[in-house]
Amino acid sequence: MTHGQFPYIRGRRLRASGAIRDMVAEHNLKPADFIAPVFVMEGENEKVEIPSMPDYYRYTLDLLLEEVQELKNVGIRSLVIFAKVPKNKKDNKGTEALNSEGLMQRAVRAIKEQFPEMLVMTDIAMDPYSSYGHDGIVEDGKILNDESVEVLTKMAVSHAEAGADMVAPSDMMDGRIGSMRQALDEQGFNHTGIMAYSAKYASAYYGPFRDALDSAPGFGDKKTYQMDPANVQEAIKEAQLDEQEGADIVMVKPGLPYMDVIRAVKENVSVPVSVYNVSGEYAMLKAAAEKGWLDEEQVMVETLVGFKRAGADLIATYFAKAASKILKNKL
Ligand code: PBG
Repeated sequence: MTHGQFPYIRGRRLRASGAIRDMVAEHNLKPADFIAPVFVMEGENEKVEIPSMPDYYRYTLDLLLEEVQELKNVGIRSLVIFAKVPKNKKDNKGTEALNSEGLMQRAVRAIKEQFPEMLVMTDIAMDPYSSYGHDGIVEDGKILNDESVEVLTKMAVSHAEAGADMVAPSDMMDGRIGSMRQALDEQGFNHTGIMAYSAKYASAYYGPFRDALDSAPGFGDKKTYQMDPANVQEAIKEAQLDEQEGADIVMVKPGLPYMDVIRAVKENVSVPVSVYNVSGEYAMLKAAAEKGWLDEEQVMVETLVGFKRAGADLIATYFAKAASKILKNKL
């Protein structure tokens, strides 16, 4: 057999057309991969754009239901709800978080009633309810662990009662997954799942989100509970612990600066891995696109497929709707 001219192995043959590229693509994005974060606030018939998150809104519940319809129309099957709590309802113990008539609980009920097939997740953390903007009860400038886990566990049960399909604890207190799993099971919610924010870093990329919910810490930072950006081995430990405690899905957060963490976690757990493409990542791309410095659609899709390549099975992203529209038009 004679070979043609060097080089006889040519990688470019598999890149020659859209048809062949799509055929050999190792990873594919689909709207069902996405969890769309939604922000709800009190009131009616109002939506407010979040200044540091262009094109992203906080909705009153009536308008949120219309938005959920739009998400559904582009093929999105899952969302995670965040509630903006009025200042006068915040206290150190996050009391309002347990109110069965609270905004979060009402939002879950309304969405599940109108869209029973939508997979509804709720964020479990005290910061939007805390007068200190922390994810736990504060005493002498410290964040108490076990006392906070008690509140967080009740919060998970309250969301399950409202009809949440999964609860998503984002607080990083020790032992909360086991505590929630036990309480959910004891109270008849053994079908309610837990998506654990397992490797959640103390990140400056959450800034725009805290604008959206008015939930920035009133003093100090979150470094005594959220993880140090320098660590990856610790992420594996946290994810494995959460898996052992009963998490159905584990999460790495933020996304882009932690691609290696997604891969490491993926290789060390047997539950699905999700990633949270956080508010600051959204804001960076939006700002660069507004200036005409980056192509928003292309960078968005490149980023999202990058998460899947890194090992993420699902992606929480503020680009869920925009990306789903692009994917839909491609088919
Ligand atoms: C609540 C919570 C935060 C985010 C999700 N849940 C903020 C924080 O921990 O300070 C951040 C999401 C984002 O930035 O998009 N604990």
